[in-house]
Amino acid sequence: MRFTCAALAFAAALSTADAAYKGFNYGAFFGNNAAKQYVDFKYEFEAAKELPGTNGQFNSARLYTMIQWGTTKDVITAIQAAIDTKTTLLLGIWTSATTTAAAQTGVNNELAAFQAAIDKFGSSFTNLIAGISVGSEDLYRITPTALKNGEKNPGAQPADLAKYVDQVKAFRNKNTLLKGKLVGHVDTWTAYVNGSNKAVIDKLEWIGVDAYPFWETEHANAIGNGKTLFYDAYNQVKAIAQSKPIWITETGWPVSGPTTGQAVASTANAKTYWNSVACQLMKDNVNLWYYTLQDVQYSNPSPSFGVKPGGDLKAVKPLFDLTCPNSAKFVSAPSLVIGNQYTAQLSSTRSTLFVFHVDPEPGQTCNLVFTLPPPFDPRYVAPYTIVSSGGIDVSRLERPVDGRASAKSVGGAKTIGSVPQLLLGNKYTIASGPCEAGQDVGYRIDSAGGLDMQFFQMTSPALGLFMEVA
Ligand SMILES: *[C@@H]1O[C@H](CO)[C@@H](O)[C@H](O)[C@H]1NC(C)=O
Repeated sequence: MRFTCAALAFAAALSTADAAYKGFNYGAFFGNNAAKQYVDFKYEFEAAKELPGTNGQFNSARLYTMIQWGTTKDVITAIQAAIDTKTTLLLGIWTSATTTAAAQTGVNNELAAFQAAIDKFGSSFTNLIAGISVGSEDLYRITPTALKNGEKNPGAQPADLAKYVDQVKAFRNKNTLLKGKLVGHVDTWTAYVNGSNKAVIDKLEWIGVDAYPFWETEHANAIGNGKTLFYDAYNQVKAIAQSKPIWITETGWPVSGPTTGQAVASTANAKTYWNSVACQLMKDNVNLWYYTLQDVQYSNPSPSFGVKPGGDLKAVKPLFDLTCPNSAKFVSAPSLVIGNQYTAQLSSTRSTLFVFHVDPEPGQTCNLVFTLPPPFDPRYVAPYTIVSSGGIDVSRLERPVDGRASAKSVGGAKTIGSVPQLLLGNKYTIASGPCEAGQDVGYRIDSAGGLDMQFFQMTSPALGLFMEVA
């Protein structure tokens, strides 16, 4: 008997999302204020991808600045490191300074470095851009809460920040290589729900949210409430977001440090937070830059948020298991599930299940299609691996499955279509019929003719099994 993969991302029929970005935040300098150099960034990006239990998915980096630390406007070496490690980038433009004039000079220098990077690296750089953030927590830093918490760094007024957002959008619009790259801002969730900051929100193309229940001492913030507090914050931002995408740009729970309110810093609690918040965000396909990979190199922060302790980043082990609870383990007993909710596997020993929830609009025709994008530029990570070519057989499950499905529990299936030989750049219609409005429908894809491939189901470019309205 073949192994069966867990229900792949409950791909909502007729409206699927791109594979979300997953990564960490990367400062420009170490705890001793020494600038990170190319080799340091490269080492960090490689270490993130190698994290056990994450399937190489932490391959995106959020930066705070375009400028190499300690220089006026040299391009940050993280960009070369990202190109060499195929790491996507949420870029940052630093927008705060002690005077508005100095902040504007800073923004000008950021854009000069940005332009220099585009001129030097071209599309090998710009193809990696996940988005551009104008500022980071600038609105938080001017609040009474920040000052009470001992914040010493300057922030920015909403009117100034709105102006910088316009400048960065104008910069984006004149660089054809930046076409389609969205400009947003990162701040604490509390800054967004403050009505005085609406002028900034109006300008944004995405909203970057930093949320740390650990710091929310005004609420009952024990770890047991961590998920509730996080989603309260998320939903409050959603309410004022004017339908703009919300990206989680920082969240995390410390592995060590003092207790704040009811929140205890420990590796056990950091693991609980990872499971309940980070894994939920990944499952929901929300862009996530977690805080953080390692924060104790050459310093001793308290609290510390690193999933890795100090020491040689690649040699030290994570402080807790980063596997998500729903992601099944690779095991060899045929009664157990293989898969991780995102990546489909098709081979002589592995099949994958898909579940679609069909929109409740009766009377339409639905096509079940399998799509493979044209070949990818080999310099970039392709979202699929084809070990050997072949085709697929697709069957309809007698009953839909959930994320806990195993080969034993999955039940019967009836073959409804097949493709003898899959070729890149093709879209195959597997079956067609009246849409099963309002239903959950399940399918299994089996490898045929020697196919051995893995792929990450995504829409841009389209890759995988989809249900479309004819
Ligand atoms: C609300 O936002 C304004 C403008 O950014 C800021 O001056 C003010 O302190 C904020 N209020 C609170 C309670 O954070």
